[in-house]
Amino acid sequence: MGKLENKVAIVTGASSGMGKEIAKLFAQEGASVIAIARRAEKLQEVIDQITAEGGRALAVSGDVSKEEDVRNAVRTAVEQYGRLDIVVNNAGLMDRMGGVAVVDDQLWNSIIDVNLTGPMRMMRAAIPVFLDQGGGVFVTVASIGGLHGCRAGAAYTASKHGVIGLAKNVGHMYAKKGIRSNIIAPGGVNTDITSNLQIDPEGGALCGAGLVTNPRMGEADEIARVALFLASDDSSFVNGATLVADSGWSAY
Ligand SMILES: NC(=O)c1ccc[n+]([C@@H]2O[C@H](COP(=O)([O-])OP(=O)(O)OC[C@H]3O[C@@H](n4cnc5c(N)ncnc54)[C@H](O)[C@@H]3O)[C@@H](O)[C@H]2O)c1
Repeated sequence: MGKLENKVAIVTGASSGMGKEIAKLFAQEGASVIAIARRAEKLQEVIDQITAEGGRALAVSGDVSKEEDVRNAVRTAVEQYGRLDIVVNNAGLMDRMGGVAVVDDQLWNSIIDVNLTGPMRMMRAAIPVFLDQGGGVFVTVASIGGLHGCRAGAAYTASKHGVIGLAKNVGHMYAKKGIRSNIIAPGGVNTDITSNLQIDPEGGALCGAGLVTNPRMGEADEIARVALFLASDDSSFVNGATLVADSGWSAY
């Protein structure tokens, strides 16, 4: 019996990287998965892979910065699978590693909108369903950039510090209603998140200086296994916690 048997889970940003591995692992563990991402074709490939292995998954093409898309995902979970038990806030954007003096409003707003307001929208839409059912679980993929000052640029760092605060607030505010909300803070993980980014040379060099203390990069499936722990009843007494998964980088 899988650890998520009979559970229904939404995973945002599921077309690549950690979100893809989380969606696949959750389905292997028995969950019915609603996978959300903007790239419909890439998302469908993930769904096809899951269903070919006998899992249950549906694609919802959508953008976490759009209220209607977020509400549609929650509605789809309830209409298609009858309930919603788990929401993984994984979708995220990296900035260009720039210091605050080089951040323009467009970059700032897009990073905050996806990394911070996106999870808030998902939680706001899911909580009424969780309350009706007597509980539910949030897992938010933040970053060690949400705990330290210079793992990325100003916008990303602020967004990830913010989302950790949001997820902790939800954890305590709704604890007595059976809702848990925990955070994963990954270190460097091999994904496509920095591809197509024009890194700011000065900020990039300053952030990169700390890389010498990073024991190793992680793989997306290693983060998926942390997400499984936080989404399953194995972590029933864990709430409002930030689980660092970085091979000891931030232990230096
Ligand atoms: N890779 C790392 O080193 C690292 C480290 C710490 C934290 N993180 C965080 O992990 C999470 C997953 O990132 P990843 O490394 O797997 O990168 P990734 O680029 O492979 O995955 C991010 C996913 O989010 C999706 N996405 C972006 N904006 C979206 C939006 N508005 N609506 C819906 N989906 C959207 C992307 O399409 C993509 O599928 C992010 O929140 C990221 O900040 C990554």
